[in-house]
Amino acid sequence: MKGIILAGGFGTRLYPMTTNISKQLLPIYDKPMIYYSLSTLMRLKIRDILIISSKEFINIYKNIFKYSYKLGIKISYLSQNYPNGIAESFIIGKDFIGKDNVTLILGDNFFYGLNSGILKFEEFKKNFGAKIFAYKVNEPQNYGVINIYKNNKIKNIIEKPKKPNSNYVATGLYVYDNNVIKKVTKLKPSKRGELEITDLNNLYIKEKKLEAIFLQSGSVWLDAGTSQDLLKASQFVQTVQDRQKILIGSPEETAYFNNWVSKNKLKGIISHMPENEYSKHLINLL
Ligand code: G1P
Repeated sequence: MKGIILAGGFGTRLYPMTTNISKQLLPIYDKPMIYYSLSTLMRLKIRDILIISSKEFINIYKNIFKYSYKLGIKISYLSQNYPNGIAESFIIGKDFIGKDNVTLILGDNFFYGLNSGILKFEEFKKNFGAKIFAYKVNEPQNYGVINIYKNNKIKNIIEKPKKPNSNYVATGLYVYDNNVIKKVTKLKPSKRGELEITDLNNLYIKEKKLEAIFLQSGSVWLDAGTSQDLLKASQFVQTVQDRQKILIGSPEETAYFNNWVSKNKLKGIISHMPENEYSKHLINLL
């Protein structure tokens, strides 16, 4: 299973914070936003990861993650020249995906409490279809809304409907079989000029090949795309970290948890960090 983090877009909803910086580099409490999506992929046991961002920021990402190989993961980088939509990730990442299945996460999505068993990759056959993660929210009109039949089967997904028929929305975490590479070429740009992930998912639904995993109420999903949500995510991270003396969204912690890095190696990594709350948390973990 390959992993892609899409860290593109203009970040217009976060202007002027995003005038000079990629949205996914803004902090959620004590770490860059992208740390959280990277850690989520790592929790799902994905080690081969592609980061897609706009050209001007690629070198910053390369620099931030230059020692990531020490954590047992491999990160590649490609640029998206213009925000042509989430589904374009599979056109840009075609060679990276190769013959594999692929999980895509949006770099501004925050997940907490995802059980690592939620995706049993070993069970995925080559042609398993697609999986999305559904979450119940108060304001579904801001997202891809999932319409469900009485028998719990999925009817369709509608992107930001004015009058949503359901409170269940598609979060920014998607798993696809290798057919995604072919399917994405069938998409046409939407009214907002983007290759929509929702259109791609509807193609899978038409073939009865999309399954929605409904995240339980104990899991947390936030989309940090607005200043309000960014603050909410920061407050959440601060509260849980302080209360439990843990780190949320730390690639180092996740690599250690996964046994991808030994105690000694992690000690070595920490020794290169400045002494601050982040490194203290990691020492505490050991
Ligand atoms: C995108 C998707 C939408 C999904 C959301 C999750 O919205 O198009 O279906 O619910 O991500 O964060 P956008 O970020 O383009 O507003």
